[in-house]
Amino acid sequence: MFEEAQYFAPIATQDDGSVVVELATSHPGFADPVYRARRNAIAGLAVNHRPGTPIPVAEYTEREHEVWALVTKELAAKHAAYATAEYLGGVARLGLPRTRIPQLQEVSELLEPLTGFRYLPAAGLVPLRDFYGVLADGYFHSTQYIRHHSVPFYTPEPDVVHEVIGHANALASDRYAALYRLAGEAARRVEGDAALEFVSKVFWFTLEFGVMLDGGELRAYGAGILSSYGEIEEFRSMDIRPLDLTMMGTTHYDITKYQDVLFRADSLQHLEDVVGDFWATCDDDSIAELMATHP
Ligand code: TRP
Ligand code: FE
Repeated sequence: MFEEAQYFAPIATQDDGSVVVELATSHPGFADPVYRARRNAIAGLAVNHRPGTPIPVAEYTEREHEVWALVTKELAAKHAAYATAEYLGGVARLGLPRTRIPQLQEVSELLEPLTGFRYLPAAGLVPLRDFYGVLADGYFHSTQYIRHHSVPFYTPEPDVVHEVIGHANALASDRYAALYRLAGEAARRVEGDAALEFVSKVFWFTLEFGVMLDGGELRAYGAGILSSYGEIEEFRSMDIRPLDLTMMGTTHYDITKYQDVLFRADSLQHLEDVVGDFWATCDDDSIAELMATHP
């Protein structure tokens, strides 16, 4: 299966309709029964959600709101130093709450008038074809639980901080939102699993972990860097490579640690020209050709 499958904990639905999330022993919340009960309850909201109805309200605890407030404060300082101007424009437009976790419905209502994007709740892993495909229609699947309070600066699986602070602020930018849509159109267009994996890896090395030159400095626009106040301090010292479709589409990555190989665009225009045009036009044949040029 695709590598993306690994970062989501498996979910089982019980006979009584309740949901149990399996956490890896290395997960910061593994030994915390209170946290695990919260994870199960919040996953249950998404499992039982019907498309077209409002996103269920998650009643967060004080401790969970405190995690959001802490991460928001830490990230605001880091974003000023390390995020692209385009992303910071998205932050200003969206206006997320700073001291409490916003409901996904609320995020969706802030975002839709800006770029047309809406949020959908996800209990855990969404199959790649659905996850990427619905981006073409302006839908973004999002987890709703928050990271464990013991390790606020980094979490090994996507959480509401990552989905909202990382992705929604980017989706509030017209130019980034257009790239997300193009990724979705590409995922819909390709037929083979190898081509879909290639498209998803290009997404990984750009909209998840991309960096670019901006005002003469290396800055991050990838949501996975922008949601971790631990990882964001490290990206400038990683192995930074030139933007190259074949390399991005075939490079292996380990999702359980800070990303040590990153790809740099020379500008937002450069990203749009190379990656935007690729997603707008690629098909199984053109991707097979790119893969064949892999050294
Ligand atoms: N590490 C990210 C954070 O702390 C969250 C995350 C975990 C993530 N796995 C990911 C982000 C995979 C993108 C892709 O915010
Ligand atoms: Fe993400």
